[in-house]
Amino acid sequence: MNNDSLFRPFQLKSLNIKNRIVMAPMTRSFSPDGVPTAKVAAYYRKRAEGEVGLILSEGTVIDRISSSNDANIPHFHGEQALAGWKNVIDGVHQVGGEMGPQIWHMGIMDNHHSGWLPSEPFEGPSGLNRPGFSNGRTMTESDIADTIVAFGKAAADAKRLGFDCLELHGAHDYLIDQFFWSETNKRTDIWGGKTLPERSKFAIEVIKEVRKQVGEDFAIIIRLSQWKPADYTYKLAKTPQEMEAWLNPLADAGVDIFHCSQRRFWEPEFDGSDLNFAGWAKKLTGKATITVGSVGLTGEFLAAFAGESSQPSSLDELIRRMDRGDFDLVAVGRPLLSDPNWVRKIREKDTKDLKGFTKEALAELVLE
Ligand SMILES: Cc1cc2nc3c(=O)[nH]c(=O)nc-3n(C[C@H](O)[C@H](O)[C@H](O)COP(=O)(O)O)c2cc1C
Repeated sequence: MNNDSLFRPFQLKSLNIKNRIVMAPMTRSFSPDGVPTAKVAAYYRKRAEGEVGLILSEGTVIDRISSSNDANIPHFHGEQALAGWKNVIDGVHQVGGEMGPQIWHMGIMDNHHSGWLPSEPFEGPSGLNRPGFSNGRTMTESDIADTIVAFGKAAADAKRLGFDCLELHGAHDYLIDQFFWSETNKRTDIWGGKTLPERSKFAIEVIKEVRKQVGEDFAIIIRLSQWKPADYTYKLAKTPQEMEAWLNPLADAGVDIFHCSQRRFWEPEFDGSDLNFAGWAKKLTGKATITVGSVGLTGEFLAAFAGESSQPSSLDELIRRMDRGDFDLVAVGRPLLSDPNWVRKIREKDTKDLKGFTKEALAELVLE
């Protein structure tokens, strides 16, 4: 199939991307004490050289003592970590790429298998990570206020360091999503409530603060997921009406692009239409959207954590939806872990050399 639609430029505010392919944010845990190394910079630069249009960094945490459960996940605060990130973005720009950091607070977490723990308990809306699992404390009013400020500080730093956009991690049952989800947000104050729009107040205040810090012209992406790691079939918004009531206030607060996380991009969001999450988000908000989930691969990513390999698969269905105008951008995860040149190979239709994905790629920063 003709894949020209993937190789059209995309322009929005601060973004000038040469094609429609985005590197999905992927935690690598190769940043000791939170500081991205020269090898991390080389890893991102290689993907930009391999013609990725927009790179989203692995999740990188804000300045809250318990925003991370892993000592090797990069910080987005502190002189050394920010100097590491400056090195990353300069390298990406030198070879013509664009990039945004994925700004993250994990919220209530399981303890990491390494045994490392932050010096204060994890914090979240109600101390819960999933039904019946509490591992931290309920945030006070001042914790919430300070956390919103810390998101804004990270956003200001992203712009100051020269990044082209930023993404807020509002998906996968981390802090922002823990406020969205009724099972993890049991609050009875203004930060909780029976409806999803009520439980969106935290996200809205974060977005407003971030917008205030970066100004009107800097592109803000938010990543959202209906599913939760504890329940893949869960939907925060059960109908298009509920989705509209959830997303439009986020757009009004300052979101430019919705990054709609699915495990398989072809799965319809609601009965009666084949539109996926990104398709509905674009239709309901009029905003640009990013789709993601098993693009070009036979298997999905959570099975990959359990060691499952994936083979290359056809892009025909993706391109059919893109040509129909369902979404603007396409994020690709695992194929880019294994192969920095995946995008170039797709553009050149060099399909015989596609590598697929094997779990070995999780254990290293593949540079060739
Ligand atoms: C190793 C690994 C780490 C990931 N870390 C993150 C992350 O930090 N933030 C995030 O939003 N998603 C994360 N994800 C999910 C990916 O961004 C993406 O949504 C998922 O892999 C599906 O895309 P794929 O099928 O192309 O791999 C991670 C996925 C993998 C494989």
